Amino acid sequence: MARLNLLEETRFEKLPVTIFKNPKEASLSVAQRIATLIKEKQQQNLNAVLGLATGATPIAVYAELVRLHKEEGLSFKNVITFNLDEYYPMQPNAAQSYVTFMNENLFNHIDIDKNNVHIPDGTLNLEEIPAFCLAYERKIESVGGLDIQILGIGRTGHIGFNEPGSAPNSGTRLVTLDDLTRRDAARDFGGKSNVPTKAITMGIGTIFKAKEIILMAWNRKKASIIKKAVEGEISSEVPATYLQLSDNVEFILDQDAASGLTRFNTPWLVKDCVWTEELTRKAVIWLANKLNKPILKLTEDDFNNNGMAQLATEQGPVYNINIH
Ligand code: F6R
Repeated sequence: MARLNLLEETRFEKLPVTIFKNPKEASLSVAQRIATLIKEKQQQNLNAVLGLATGATPIAVYAELVRLHKEEGLSFKNVITFNLDEYYPMQPNAAQSYVTFMNENLFNHIDIDKNNVHIPDGTLNLEEIPAFCLAYERKIESVGGLDIQILGIGRTGHIGFNEPGSAPNSGTRLVTLDDLTRRDAARDFGGKSNVPTKAITMGIGTIFKAKEIILMAWNRKKASIIKKAVEGEISSEVPATYLQLSDNVEFILDQDAASGLTRFNTPWLVKDCVWTEELTRKAVIWLANKLNKPILKLTEDDFNNNGMAQLATEQGPVYNINIH
């Protein structure tokens, strides 16, 4: 019964979503999945191939992997990594480079062979980039493809640096960053004007080939883009919506990032509700906004046609609800 209810509740969601109480618990679970993969591969004498992301989102995952290495002996000797992206141009030893980020948050603290670490090269000449990108794709293929790809999501809906307008079959390439992405990065660079306008990123097609894709998001700031990515129509305007086409994707969210999903934001559309004063007020205001009508003009039919029949029946007539 509980499972059936959940199916109904999630009927607007077009890909699997798992919600944790907070980012910490979510991060521990993702780290655990990565550790399990690494150990399974070790038992078979195989490499584990990880696609990694930078940014604020995966930091606690990397911290837990470091802890598992230091305290529980998890070895990364059989691990090969490919990072999603790097700013262009970018010197690897610059404070804002993704090389520095990965070294500081993960690689410097584990026993990975640095020859097994791959991050797009921000120092190339423009004309060297296409060949580099092709070789990056080939290298991923030559080690058997990505076993797990970790993703964050930008407020533009980008995954990697695949900004709005990116094609679903795009490969590793040089791209131009969206203005919002550069604004979000401004703090790291001491002002937006210092943020590079370009980056080298794996494509959506590259990400798609991973055997498992885990997109993580925390924080209320991500709630609206998460709603679009999970419930919206597939469109190049929100590149993360392409993930709806994958059979191997899972979104791992904290409650704040999930708060825009229908089951939390407008729960009356997907289930019977306990009509507290707060929920009633929220629903009536939502209905008035949706229909662009003053609250006192909302009718019985308006309630019934917009998933609020339960409220009208339990606490109606609706005129009284509106007045209240
Ligand atoms: C980083 C990357 C980006 C970030 C995204 C979210 O390698 O590819 O797509 O995952 O911009 O960034 P944070 O985690 O800082 O919110």
